[in-house]
Formats: sequence, C-alpha cells, structure tokens
Amino acid sequence: MPDFAPPPLDDVDRIMAIMACAFPPEFGEAWNRRQIIDSLLLDTVHYALIAPDGTIAPDRIDCAAGFYLSRSVLDEEELLLFAIAPEWRRRGLGHALLIQFITRTRQSGKKRLFLEMRHNNPAGVLYAAHGFRPIGLRPRYYRTLNGDRIDAITQELVIE
Ligand SMILES: CC(C)(COP(=O)(O)OP(=O)(O)OC[C@H]1O[C@@H](n2cnc3c(N)ncnc32)[C@H](O)[C@@H]1OP(=O)(O)O)[C@@H](O)C(=O)NCCC(=O)NCCS
Repeated sequence: MPDFAPPPLDDVDRIMAIMACAFPPEFGEAWNRRQIIDSLLLDTVHYALIAPDGTIAPDRIDCAAGFYLSRSVLDEEELLLFAIAPEWRRRGLGHALLIQFITRTRQSGKKRLFLEMRHNNPAGVLYAAHGFRPIGLRPRYYRTLNGDRIDAITQELVIE
C-alpha cells in the first residue's frame, strides 16, 4: 500500500484560486498546480484554508480566503506558502491563519519554525508580531520578471 493519498482536488482548486490573485506576478513566488499536487502527495507537507468568516477547517470551507502550505523536516516546520486573497486582507485573517499554523506546529512537537521572505515584503510586519526573527539573508535569491534580484530574509520562530 502506498503511504500517501492524492490531495482533495477541491482544495487544490481553492488553493490555486488564491494563488492566482494573491502573489504579485513580478516576483514569481506563486507555484503552479502540478507543484501543489506533487507537494501534497508527501505526508510531510501540510496545509490549511481559511474562510472569509475566519473558519479554519478544510473540509467545511466552500469559499476560501487564504491558505498556507508547510513542510516538516525533523523537529522543524517550514512555511512554504502563506497568502490571503487581496479582497479579504486587513481583516485579521492572516493573523488568524498564522496563529493556527504556529499552534498546530507546536502541538505536533516541533521546536522551530522557518520561512523565507522577500526583503521588504509587508508580511514581515505580521511575522514579527508573532515572534519571528530574521536569522539570515540570501542575497539576490528572488528574481523578478524584469531580471532584478531581491534578497531573501530567513525568519525563525523558536517554540518555547
Ligand atoms: C501577508 C498577508 C498574508 C497578510 O494577510 P492579511 O489578512 O491582510 O493580514 P491581517 O489582516 O491579519 O494583518 C495583521 C497585521 O499584519 C500587518 N500587515 C498585514 N499586511 C500589511 C501590509 N500590507 N503592510 C503593513 N502591515 C501589514 C499589520 O500589522 C496588520 O494589522 P492591522 O491591519 O491591524 O494593521 C497578505 O498581505 C498576503 O497574502 N500577501 C501576499 C502574499 C505574501 O506575500 N505572502 C507572504 C509570503 S512570505
């Protein structure tokens, strides 16, 4: 028996709908559908969707306003994608989804959370408010559509 199961395609559709509008195209951060499906075949990859009313439960959500995707490596969890659709921003949904991510990760016994963030991404304000701290810089890590390079900031949250 395989130790993986295909992800619910309804949820892949919901993730891709947010992906299409949430990430500024010039930074090339969005993943394609194949990347999402392949990643969700791994039992080390997790996701959650959040509804406009703040409900976080993938199987009960018809309309998703945001999602995250993360990956476990030993006692660490890396946040790979995190987004709220533009029409639902600045209502606290990003805050609520990040709390769910941190709580779920803590409950699974992980000790450290990581993420990579484009330098000057406003999301940094949200991450800092939840205790993430910059621990490294990858110079010229992201390439924009016009060829410019942008540094990546590695952020860490140590779970007490
Ligand atoms: C980052 C993102 C997820 C925030 O989602 P959100 O639902 O708007 O976040 P919230 O409403 O919970 O904001 C919580 C706090 O974060 C900060 N914040 C969020 N967006 C901000 C912005 N654009 N500029 C400055 N601060 C911001 C504020 O302190 C905000 O509190 P306030 O609204 O009371 O001032 C959303 O802007 C997004 O999807 N961005 C594009 C994708 C992306 O860059 N993801 C991160 C990749 S590392």
